[in-house]
Amino acid sequence: MYPVRIEGGRIVLREFEERDLEASMTVVGDPDVTVFLSFDTRTREEQAERLAADIARAKTEPRPDYYLAIADRQADELIGFIRIGLGGHRSGELGYAIRKDRWRQGYAVEAAQLMLGFGFEALALHRIQAACGPDNLASQALLHRLGFECEGRMRDHVFTNGGWRDSLLYATLHRPA
Ligand SMILES: CC(C)(COP(=O)(O)OP(=O)(O)OC[C@H]1O[C@@H](n2cnc3c(N)ncnc32)[C@H](O)[C@@H]1OP(=O)(O)O)[C@@H](O)C(=O)NCCC(=O)NCCS
Repeated sequence: MYPVRIEGGRIVLREFEERDLEASMTVVGDPDVTVFLSFDTRTREEQAERLAADIARAKTEPRPDYYLAIADRQADELIGFIRIGLGGHRSGELGYAIRKDRWRQGYAVEAAQLMLGFGFEALALHRIQAACGPDNLASQALLHRLGFECEGRMRDHVFTNGGWRDSLLYATLHRPA
């Protein structure tokens, strides 16, 4: 499915564009954000390469993932990203980040609710999971707010920021009304 565009109240989830490079650096180039992610802080050059690859990957069929920009609807400027990576058995893995100057304003809740609706309806997923670091209280609060349940702890799940890190595994299931 390409291109994807999901409209919300204050935000839109849309495909990445080349013009997102500067704004995306406020997310992937900020160590205060990437300390919680499974990849290290990127330079502008590294991000330019990744962005080009992300734009190209979105056009492959079948898509391995839906990695979308979270854009402020008025300015159409990127304020974060959200991703569902597709697995087997109608499962997906959710990931997200918001630029620091927009934290705690409800943007992640809004973006994740839009993405969960897309995953369960348009993609017909049954299970969506998310893994986050045990120290990542913001992400845990978000997942609780979204109705995810914690299913356990994966030891040494990711190598990031120079060391192995455990993850808490959360998931939510599609329960049609
Ligand atoms: C996790 C993250 C995406 C949350 O984004 P956000 O837009 O600030 O979140 P929201 O404003 O939508 O808040 C979501 C919930 O989390 C809570 N929350 C947000 N930041 C929090 C914090 N630092 N500590 C405790 N709770 C927090 C909010 O109160 C809200 O809960 P509520 O609705 O029950 O009050 C953001 O902190 C971020 O980008 N972190 C770095 C990247 C990251 O950790 N990604 C996830 C990897 S698993």
